[in-house]
Amino acid sequence: MYSVETYNLTKIYSNGVKAVDKINLQINEGEIYGLLGPNGAGKTTTIKMLTTALKPTEGSAKVAGYDIVKESMKVRMNVGIVPQDLTADEDLTGMENLLMVSKFYNVPYGKAKENIDKLVKLVDLRDSINKLVGQYSGGMRRRLELIMGLVHNPRVLFLDEPTLGLDVQTRSLMWEYIRNIQQIENITIILTSHYLEEVDALSNRLSIINKGKIVVTGTPEELKKSIGGDIVVLTFKNGKEALQATDILKTYKASRITELSIKIKSSDFSKDSQTILGILKESNLEPLRIQVEKPSLDTVFLEYVGRSLPDEEGDSDSRKMMLMMRRLRK
Ligand SMILES: Nc1ncnc2c1ncn2[C@@H]1O[C@H](COP(=O)(O)OP(=O)(O)O)[C@@H](O)[C@H]1O
Ligand SMILES: [Mg+2]
Repeated sequence: MYSVETYNLTKIYSNGVKAVDKINLQINEGEIYGLLGPNGAGKTTTIKMLTTALKPTEGSAKVAGYDIVKESMKVRMNVGIVPQDLTADEDLTGMENLLMVSKFYNVPYGKAKENIDKLVKLVDLRDSINKLVGQYSGGMRRRLELIMGLVHNPRVLFLDEPTLGLDVQTRSLMWEYIRNIQQIENITIILTSHYLEEVDALSNRLSIINKGKIVVTGTPEELKKSIGGDIVVLTFKNGKEALQATDILKTYKASRITELSIKIKSSDFSKDSQTILGILKESNLEPLRIQVEKPSLDTVFLEYVGRSLPDEEGDSDSRKMMLMMRRLRK
């Protein structure tokens, strides 16, 4: 049995935006599964449907064996969710937040306390668990949010952009905690991210998602292998030359990736390069720079999505909105 299985899962918002378009996922028990895609790809919408916060427009899905529409209560009791936007109350302590979530899930006090102590230890928050969350650093805050999703012992944990806004060092620390939790709790973890390194480092398997559709699925290694050979990036003086080169190198399936650069896939660039440069020279074109890239997850992304993943900081609008609401509440 799959931990998560979707069949043509689709969401069209009331304004007509098709955020998720016939997604089919099969996630095994105990996997860390990555959903990788740029902002607006439909990752959060997918997570919201799988955790029953949103109803699908079409298609269906089972999570922990239960139908997300017909058995939504059962799904809710069996999944943990760590949403993209932070949810802990800053005017309460970490402990108070954890107890509040436990109460929400009807976990008896004794059991909750026991579970919380274990989780707090797991993410090294013991020293600060009785401090106000408002005083936490970004990294501490994310660790608290992580275990808030675990107080009711879910079988499947959803992490929506778990390291958004953290610096690189704090981010890799967070990866360690996520790996430990998967092993110790023996649960399935589905994580979304627009950080390539994050999905590469954490997931056993992943799907790249773009414009609501899954473009490719596999292990990070499989995806890198599927590219085969080298990706060659040629950079020109100006856009006109890049455009001209794309046209001339049609037979090499050259395609433009930025204003000035084009990429060519080559199984053996050292062999092809002389020919390619020769062809360009006939049209008086000479690239400013030639770079050869070994396949990385970034190359995979480039290949399947057609552009690199920009390293942006996520939904800044919704974060701003959230901060504003917090201020209003005080
Ligand atoms: N409540 C909503 N109403 C209308 N459109 C939405 C809503 N939420 C998200 N969208 C749109 O759906 C698409 C997917 O968004 P989202 O699932 O948040 O993507 P991601 O999490 O990958 O950044 C985007 O085009 C976004 O603007
Ligand atoms: Mg999102």
